[in-house]
Amino acid sequence: MASLEDVFKTNTYILGPAVSRFEHNFAERMKVKHAIGVNSGTDALLLTLHALGLQPGDEVIVPAFGFVATADVVPRIGATLVFVDVNQDFTIDVEAVKAAVTERTRVIIPVHLFGRACDIEPLVQISAEHGIHLLEDCCQATGAAIGGRPVGSFGIAGCFSFYPTKNLGGFGDGGMVTTNNDELAARLRLYRDHGRDADGVFHEIGYNSRLDSVQAALLDVKLPSLDEDNADRIANAAFYQETLNPEVFALPSLAPEGSHVYNLYTVRHSQRDQLRNFLKERLVDTAIYYRRPLHLEPCFQYLGYVEGHFPVAEQMAREVLSIPIAPGLTRKELDEVAHAMDLFAKTYSTTAG
Ligand SMILES: Cc1ncc(COP(=O)(O)O)c(C=O)c1O
Repeated sequence: MASLEDVFKTNTYILGPAVSRFEHNFAERMKVKHAIGVNSGTDALLLTLHALGLQPGDEVIVPAFGFVATADVVPRIGATLVFVDVNQDFTIDVEAVKAAVTERTRVIIPVHLFGRACDIEPLVQISAEHGIHLLEDCCQATGAAIGGRPVGSFGIAGCFSFYPTKNLGGFGDGGMVTTNNDELAARLRLYRDHGRDADGVFHEIGYNSRLDSVQAALLDVKLPSLDEDNADRIANAAFYQETLNPEVFALPSLAPEGSHVYNLYTVRHSQRDQLRNFLKERLVDTAIYYRRPLHLEPCFQYLGYVEGHFPVAEQMAREVLSIPIAPGLTRKELDEVAHAMDLFAKTYSTTAG
């Protein structure tokens, strides 16, 4: 693999030409001016919030259903977390965002959850009207697009993860920030390397969040296959969509072409745990993302949210089950999943809530 050999030849294992090359190619693929490689998707979010200059008392709006990293970066930089509910399609509820905006709101973080792009236009509008930054969490949606325009190019920045199970999965941790803003890009390049510039001057108190060269070289080799892998995921989802019984399972609602890249295929059922056990007995691996809505996680109890605050997020947490969707699944494997689901549907007549 030439690019990996180059890394060993140059003897540069942190940042360096391999990271610059991957950043260039990633930026081109995502149709943005800058891509800045960092240690993880979590750091992509954390460093961006820091680089946007958030202060204590500033509010950041985050959906109440999703992965903890989208939320925990907010208190880590001293800002105030404001949760809002989600829609039936798992993405942030725009009306709830409107109701949650105050004069202290500085950032909204919509999450393209499970690979499905949010309804971004109204959020772009809210952000423009109120002078609030839109920071897209694209960690589960690398390669998704809205009207042909990639996610991560609508807000002030987009944050991506290369965690191995993501749509562009690496061989360890890794992340990327995309932006069209020159100043933000420059600040992020400083922040990821202890606040240091090319002359070795430390301008800011920064982080060690540099992307490894080996990781970048391998991701750069995988990048050209992203669309093919996503097409596989979309085809697998289409198979389930046609095969599973929509009267028994709440299936993901249809999304405009290219706007859902199915990092996860998540169904809902009121007897979710029973369904999961039934599938496990038939050797079908499933996962629960996420078992608790974020506002009820113990680490956010200090915010004072209680059960009933975000009913849709709470319902999702009770009912969701993700079934196999990865590219490379064979037709036989998909059939086995669908068959086991069908058997469950025939054995138990209860339906999704
Ligand atoms: C929606 C979302 N946000 C943020 C992250 C954090 O990414 P990472 O695991 O690379 O830190 C993840 C992935 O795990 C995620 O799924």
